Amino acid sequence: MFQGMIFPKIENRILAGVLAFVLMMVLLGWAAINEGGRMAAFDETYHARSIEQGAALFAQNCTTCHGANGLGGAKGPALNNPQLFGYDFFPEITKEISDLRVERADLEREASRADTTQERLTQIDSRMAEIDARITELDAPREQQLASAIQKGYDPQQPNRLQNVGWSGTLESFVLTTLIHGRPVSNNYWPIGSSGAGMVAWSQTAGGPLRMDQLEDLTAYILNWNRDWTLDDLFAVQQFAILPKDPGPLLAQIEQLQASGGVIQTAVGTNVRQIVTELETVTGDPVRGDQLYHSAARSFNGTTLACNGCHMPEGPGTGPQTSGTMSRIENERLTDPALANYTARQYLVESIVQPGNYIVPNFQNVMIPNFGENLSLQDLADLVAYLETQ
Ligand code: HEC
Ligand code: HEC
Repeated sequence: MFQGMIFPKIENRILAGVLAFVLMMVLLGWAAINEGGRMAAFDETYHARSIEQGAALFAQNCTTCHGANGLGGAKGPALNNPQLFGYDFFPEITKEISDLRVERADLEREASRADTTQERLTQIDSRMAEIDARITELDAPREQQLASAIQKGYDPQQPNRLQNVGWSGTLESFVLTTLIHGRPVSNNYWPIGSSGAGMVAWSQTAGGPLRMDQLEDLTAYILNWNRDWTLDDLFAVQQFAILPKDPGPLLAQIEQLQASGGVIQTAVGTNVRQIVTELETVTGDPVRGDQLYHSAARSFNGTTLACNGCHMPEGPGTGPQTSGTMSRIENERLTDPALANYTARQYLVESIVQPGNYIVPNFQNVMIPNFGENLSLQDLADLVAYLETQ
């Protein structure tokens, strides 16, 4: 009735409705756009803080070998370095030389065949001489210009560190896995001129002193050195990376990192349904699970779990006894209507990552609630495999 008085005509009422709707969508759209902006601003602050923390960690732990501004020294290569970021100052020359090399290799192969005629061999010889001359012609001025960098270990023909060691992943994963695992064989050729330290492993998982989030901060700090590189940046480098005389062990090590470190372990979280599905993709190792459970091994981020601090082998402690866990689950827990649709696996996983969801009768809800943050999928798979033997 009231509406009818303001907008007596039906057309006007429809028009008012449409206008109101449009206005609402505009307002919603505006809010949504600004939400994105707020999130981006938040991400940026977060990233900036990570770089800042990485800078402090770098000053404390890395400058002795990698130099004050990451420019390298006698004990370690530069990281603040166009070569690490794969920057080539002379891409056309590099391209032309590499094309010529390919052509030369083809010709050499052809020359080595039994059926190549004498006439063709003469042609090949003269073409190869041309190629060699051209390569020298292309290389010489570049080498002259870069002489001071070449003295410090730079090779203009190998401007990309990742390519030189055959790393197929990102620079980020190269840096992070190097930090996690170190380069155990690098003490054979570092420090320069004597044998010694090399690059050690920094992660707590590998017995080093730093947590995973600290390694991520360091990685963010190093990657933040990327910029529009100039020749002055190249000349500022004090020492470039070394490819050892016998690169075999280094390359084997890199390959191994590729294979194992390609997957960087992260915390498994608390989504039981998702975790149970993901568990299908890994094989649990009950022996390591036993070690994790009894604090003889640490989880992926260096946490000592001490499950046995509350779970005694036999007899109740703060938590239910370890022995017979599986038969108790199958014969007692899963018959409880509260756990009607659970599988034993689901119950086990939930007991570990969300222990408060179901409290075992006669026990208190005191189990540590954040194991999901300190276990990787593999850690959890190992624990589950161990408990499934009980
Ligand atoms: C005792 C000396 C030493 C310390 C301390 C050290 N490093 Fe290294 N680092 C090296 C050496 C030597 C290499 C070269 C290894 C190789 O050639 O395989 C290296 C390699 C690296 C690489 C890979 C670079 C490349 O071109 O292959 C990164 C990234 C790195 N270090 C980061 C760090 C960070 C970050 C720290 C501090 C947490 C650190 N390092 C502390 C000696 C050290
Ligand atoms: C601070 C003591 C404490 C620690 C540490 C602890 N738990 Fe528990 N856990 C308990 C208690 C108490 C219960 C029973 C109450 C409940 O259901 O939350 C329990 C229950 C469980 C259950 C269910 C057992 C059943 O009979 O139904 C499993 C499985 C389990 N914990 C595994 C683990 C694992 C694996 C670890 C180490 C990663 C661990 N717990 C560390 C106290 C602990």
